[in-house]
Amino acid sequence: MAHLDWLSVSVAEILEGKRVCVCGGAGGVGKTTTSAAIALGMAARGAKVAVVTIDPARRLANALGLAELDNEPSRVEPERLERAGIELDGELWAMMLDPKRTFDELIDRVAPDPARAAEIKRNRVYEQLSTAVSGSQEFTAIAKLYELEQRAEFDLLVLDTPPSRSALDFLDAPTRLSSFLEGRALKAFTRPTGAGMRIVGRGAAPLLAALRRVTGVDLLADLTTFFGLLGDMTSDFSLRAASVEQMLRAPTTAFLLITSPQHDSIDETLWFRRTLEEGGLPFAGVVANRVHHDLLGDRDPGDVERLLGRTLNADLADRVAQNFYDYHAMARRDEQNLARLAQELDGRPLLAIPQLDDDIHDIAGLLAIHRYLFASDSERTRLIANVVA
Ligand SMILES: Nc1ncnc2c1ncn2[C@@H]1O[C@H](COP(=O)(O)OP(=O)(O)OP(=O)(O)O)[C@@H](O)[C@H]1O
Ligand SMILES: [Mg+2]
Repeated sequence: MAHLDWLSVSVAEILEGKRVCVCGGAGGVGKTTTSAAIALGMAARGAKVAVVTIDPARRLANALGLAELDNEPSRVEPERLERAGIELDGELWAMMLDPKRTFDELIDRVAPDPARAAEIKRNRVYEQLSTAVSGSQEFTAIAKLYELEQRAEFDLLVLDTPPSRSALDFLDAPTRLSSFLEGRALKAFTRPTGAGMRIVGRGAAPLLAALRRVTGVDLLADLTTFFGLLGDMTSDFSLRAASVEQMLRAPTTAFLLITSPQHDSIDETLWFRRTLEEGGLPFAGVVANRVHHDLLGDRDPGDVERLLGRTLNADLADRVAQNFYDYHAMARRDEQNLARLAQELDGRPLLAIPQLDDDIHDIAGLLAIHRYLFASDSERTRLIANVVA
C-alpha cells in the first residue's frame, strides 16, 4: 500500500502539549464528528477535555447523552462510555454552543452594571446582532473558547466550527463583528458631527428614512442608542479581541483542517492553510475524512466477477461488480487527490479516516473514527486492511 506512506502521526502526537484545538473546514466535511472523536481520544489518554460543538442537528449531543443545554460543558458519564467499550483515564466534557446565550453572557460580563446589561439586551440592534445566523455563531464560538481558556479548568479545549459556506468565514466573522462592536466605522457614523456622518450620512439619510417608512424600524436611532449603551464597553471589546487573538496564535493552539478527499475541498483546504499561516495562526495538520480505500490492490478486477459469479446469480453479480468498480474508481481518485495534498503539505501531518458504512450518530461511531485518528502506523495499516477485507 504505497499510498499510505504519508500516514505517519497520531493526533495524540500532534496535540502533545496543546491546550486548544480548533477543527476548521468547509461545510459537511466532518468537523463535528472529528472534533468529538479527538476529544474522546485525548480524554481516553488521561486529559480533562472539553469539546465545544456547533451542531444544530444535535446528533452528537444526543449520542453523548447530553440532554440539558445550559451553554456550559457537562461531563459525559463514564458509564455510558464504558458501555460502548471505552474506558477513559481522563474526563470528557461536552457542550453545544448556544450563540444567543453566549452573546448575552458576554454582555453581562463586560457591562458596568446589570441594569445597563439588561438595557443592551433589550435593544433591537443587539437582538438582531446576537441572533443573526451568519457571524454570531463564529463570534460566540471564539468568545466561549476564550472564556473556557481563561477559567483554566481543562487540559484541552476542542472547538468544532460552524457550518460555514466557506472555511474562511470562520476566521473573518469574529473580526468583522468585533470591529463592528468596537464601533470603529459606526461611531463616526452615529456621531452627528463625525466625519463619517458627513460622508456617509448624506447618502445614507434618505435610505434610512425610506427604511423607516417601510419597516417602521428607525435604524439610525436604534444604532445610536446601541452604541450609546455600549459606551466605554467598546474599548473592552478591543482589549478582549487582542487577548483572543493572542490565544489563537499561541504555540499551545493547533488548527486542524478537515477536508473531504475531493479535489475542490482539497483546494479550499490548501488555501485555508495558507491563510492561517500568513495570519500567524498555528496550522497543525489536515484530516482527510471519508476516504475510499483501494479494495483491489494488485488483484485482477476479473477475479471479482468470477468470485461473485460463484455465489450470486448473473444479474446480481453484474450489479454488485458494477458497484464495486465504481467504488474502486473513487478509491483511485481519492488516492491521487491525497497524494497531491501530501505533496503540498510537504511533511506536515496528514491523517486519513475512511468512509464508513454508516453515519456517525453514536459513541460506537465516534470510537470507530477515533481509532484512525489515534492509531500508530502499524495499527493504521491493520485497521485499513480490515476495512478492505
Ligand atoms: N468517515 C465517515 N464515514 C461515514 N459517515 C461520516 C464520516 N464522517 C462523517 N460522516 C457523516 O457525515 C455527516 C457530516 O458530518 P459532520 O456533521 O461531522 O460534518 P460537519 O463538517 O460538522 O458538517 P457541518 O458543516 O454541517 O457542521 C454526518 O451525517 C456524519 O455522520
Ligand atoms: Mg458540524
